[in-house]
This record gives sequence, C-alpha cells and structure tokens, in this order.
Amino acid sequence: MSTSRRSFCCLTAAGLSAITMTAWQRATAQSVRPGNRLKLPPDWNGEPLKVARAKAPIWPGTLSDVMAINGSVPGPTIRIRRGAEFSARVQNNLDQPLVLHWHGVLAPERMDGHPRDQVPAGQGYEVRFPVFQRGATCWYHSHTDGLTAEQAYAGVAGLFLIEDPAERALGLPDGDHDVPLVLTDKRVSAQKQFVYAPTMMDRMSGYVGGTMLVNGTPDAWLSVDRGLYRFRLLNGCNARICKVAFADGQSFKVIGTDGGLLAAPLEATSVMLAPGQRIEVLVDFGGRGVGSSVMLQSLAFAAGGGMSMGGPRQGSAIDLLRFFVDRDSGGSRLLPESLGEIPRLTANDAKRTRVFTLAMAGMVHTINGKLYEAQRVDFSVPFGDVEIWEYRNTGTEPHPMHAHGGKCQVLSRSSTPFLSPEDTGWKDTVLVNAGETVRVLSRFDAHPGVFVHHCHNLEHEDSGMMQAFMVEAPPTLQIERRGSQVEISWVNSETDWRLESSPQAGGTDWQPVPDVPVIVNGLGVVIVREAAAIRFYRLARP
Ligand code: C2O
Ligand code: CU
Ligand code: CU
Repeated sequence: MSTSRRSFCCLTAAGLSAITMTAWQRATAQSVRPGNRLKLPPDWNGEPLKVARAKAPIWPGTLSDVMAINGSVPGPTIRIRRGAEFSARVQNNLDQPLVLHWHGVLAPERMDGHPRDQVPAGQGYEVRFPVFQRGATCWYHSHTDGLTAEQAYAGVAGLFLIEDPAERALGLPDGDHDVPLVLTDKRVSAQKQFVYAPTMMDRMSGYVGGTMLVNGTPDAWLSVDRGLYRFRLLNGCNARICKVAFADGQSFKVIGTDGGLLAAPLEATSVMLAPGQRIEVLVDFGGRGVGSSVMLQSLAFAAGGGMSMGGPRQGSAIDLLRFFVDRDSGGSRLLPESLGEIPRLTANDAKRTRVFTLAMAGMVHTINGKLYEAQRVDFSVPFGDVEIWEYRNTGTEPHPMHAHGGKCQVLSRSSTPFLSPEDTGWKDTVLVNAGETVRVLSRFDAHPGVFVHHCHNLEHEDSGMMQAFMVEAPPTLQIERRGSQVEISWVNSETDWRLESSPQAGGTDWQPVPDVPVIVNGLGVVIVREAAAIRFYRLARP
C-alpha cells in the first residue's frame, strides 16, 4: 500500500508541477492540518434566546461544560437591519440569575441589561426596541450582578450585527469573505474543561487564559483564497488585551471600530483590542502564494500590573488563528477610498468635563474613590450634550472603560500625541493604560434613563469598578391639535433642542421640523400644519 501510494504521489506531483493544487491535494493538506477548522456561530432565527448549561464539542471528541445560548458557544449571531425592530425573548434556564446586555446597541433603559433588571433562574423576559443607529459590529453578553465574569467566561456572549444599506452600497467583501472572529481566552483542564477559579490575584488583575478560542474553536484555522477579506474582531475575553498582528508583519486596513465604519480605511500592522472592543479590518491575501499560511497573533506587550500568579500574564503572546491560502481568487480587491461621513466632535462641542479617577484600593479598583452600589446614581448627563469624559488611571493596571447608552470619540491620550486607528471613529469602549489619562468626547442622545459605565475587565467590573448614571430626559412636549394645525410647546432651557417629527411613534425616520421655535413666556413654541396623516414629535439634539 505504501508503495502504490508513493508512486501515485510522484506521478501526481510530476503531472501537476505547473498547476495549482488539485482538490485531492487540498483535501490531503487539510486532513493533516493541525488544529481545527474555524467554526462560525449560527445565525439567530428569532427564537427565544435560551441560556442554559450545556455540553459543547469545543475540542474534537470531548464535551466541555459551558453556558450556551440556544446550545451554541458563542451564542447565535443576531443580525438586525438598521431601522428594524429587535424583538426577542430571553429565557434564563441557568441555576442562577441572568440579564443580557446588548453591548454597543443603543437600547432603551429597561431593555439595556442593567444588572438591576436581572431575572431569577427559570424566568424570562421580553426585549423589544427599534435599532436606529448606523451599521456596526456589536455584541451581547451576560451583565448579571457579580456574575458577569463567570457567565461570560462560560459562554454567555454572541455577536449583534447591525446591517446598514449604506454599508452594503460600498461593496465591501461579503458572504464568506465577511468573517466574524470572536476572541476568548480560557484556562483549560486536562479533561478539556474550562477552568474558572480566580484567586485573589486574578480578581485583582483579571482572569487571563493561555488557550485562545476563536468563535469557540481552539487552535483555529481558516482556509482562504488570495482575495480581500473583511474580518470583524471582537475581544470577548474577560481581561486579556490583545495586540493583533500577523506573524510576518503584513499590514491590513482598519475600516471600523466599536461604532461602525471609519471615515476612511487606515493602514496598520497591529491593533490593540481590549475586552469589549471590536475592530473591523480588511486583509488582502493576494501577496501570498497558494499553499502558504500565516498566523494571526496577539503579540507580547508591556501591560503594567498583571500580577496574576499561576496563570498567563496580561500582555503575554498568544496565537489566534492560522490562515491557509488554498485558492486563487476571482473576486475584486478594490478598496473604497472613503467609507462615509463621520461628524468629528471637537473639544469646543463639549459643555463640560467630567473626571473619572481610576484607582487601586487594596485588592479592588474604584472610580472616583467608590465601588458600585446598585441603589446609587452617581451623576446625571443632560440628554444630547457633548461632554469630555476624562479617565485618569492612577493605578498600575490597564482599564478598558465602557459606557452604555451612548457613543464617544477619543479626544486625547496622555501617552502619545497620535491617535492610532483603533482610537478613531465612534467608540463605546476605550482602553486607559496604567498611568494614562484618556479624554473622550461622549454623547448620550439615544434614550433617557439610568445606565451604567464600567471597566470591561470583567473581574474588575464584578468587584465594583462600575457606576450608574442618569441620562436626563429632554423636556416633555405639550401638543395641542386644532384640526390640521398643531401647536407644540415645551419648557425652554439653555439647551438647544431640535424638534423632529415622524409618521410613527416608535419610528426610526425622524425628520427635523424646519420651523424655528418662538420663545413665549419661557416656552418654546412651534405651530405646524400636518399635511395628511398625524405625525409624532420629539425633541432631539441638533
Ligand atoms: Cu459589554 Cu456593560 O458591557
Ligand atoms: Cu455595553
Ligand atoms: Cu479595570
């Protein structure tokens, strides 16, 4: 048998020397490939999101204990078109409380997954809200009080992709050339079980694992062609910050961050991706030969702190995913030069500065000297105001700071005069390195109510590095109708409001009302004539 196989090999090789790989060779190459083919999370089909303990085939031939969403780790990928309504039932079939948070998705207060809204084991709740923000790679995960780290680590997380026609029109790589890469790191037992047993030190520095899973796949590889790919990376690790780069230093284009596409692609050879953050990149495999492969890695970097004993350290190197270039590509690799308009906020737009001092206090980390308390609302932000949020990290550990309910743009970073591609565009999670002061321009103009902001190192978050804040509602509108003439008034304040109208109450197509308000007796008043049907009105920030 070995003789006949060898002669077959020789024959084949001789006959094919000038041609690319045959299907047979590809199959052979793949069957001997070390590691596992990259899994892709299933798409959500609208059924209830059932969170339950399960056994998942993470490693071939073994079952690992996880907390799965509809049986899958990561959970199913939710895709919602911009302007459409997201409506789902969350069913907690765990043996502990649960609430899910839609990270990066602008959800109304009661739908956002505030820890106070968690439900006990066995119960469920409905979520329903319109998604009106621009296209973005968002995600969802457990936000249970004190159990976020444990539940997210066990698997309670998935992608939430907002699809946008404006994005589609750009002709970016799509279909099997648009690939999500959810990064999570684990400590793994000899029996191939996830180990989550944080020591005091792990709680202080965050739980870093030495085994990387990409979309739940250990030692993952992906077969690609020589074309252009869009990769959507999510750092779903509890604490590990990744410095994502190709092993041979190949450059790529950063096209998006937390809040969707950038104004234009930016070239990079590595990007920092902290827990909670997303980054979208275009990678061109055209410079590589068929039959070659390259590793995507997280490079080593100096992280400060990282006192973890027994586990891998923050900033240690780890392999993410190997790409095998198996085929030529028929597709185009034309890059759009511009990806769209992003209004650039400046310090002049800011109404005030809010300082958050991040400090180490014994074994925990505080924000402005305090730990999270469910009953306390720490501050209020007027709806729609631009504010400078200044994070001063006086400690020795990095903190990826994340705010619910709004978006921000990075204004400055004390450690460098240059903002890197990952600091560009609309963000919701910003890495604040040890000793650093980072200023961001924040705006909360989606929903009024109480939201939280916190460190996305989940051990830090669970141990209290979180605050609740209130987004103050805009003034209420008084609406008087006399036939088709409608008088709309509100208590005038210093804030400039723009009156908008929509044919639907919970609509996504709000249009500015062109009439300039008159100020009468401390009221802003606008009188409009409704053409055909009744319209609905709201105040928004211009
Ligand atoms: Cu991704 Cu409040 O978190
Ligand atoms: Cu969030
Ligand atoms: Cu932190």
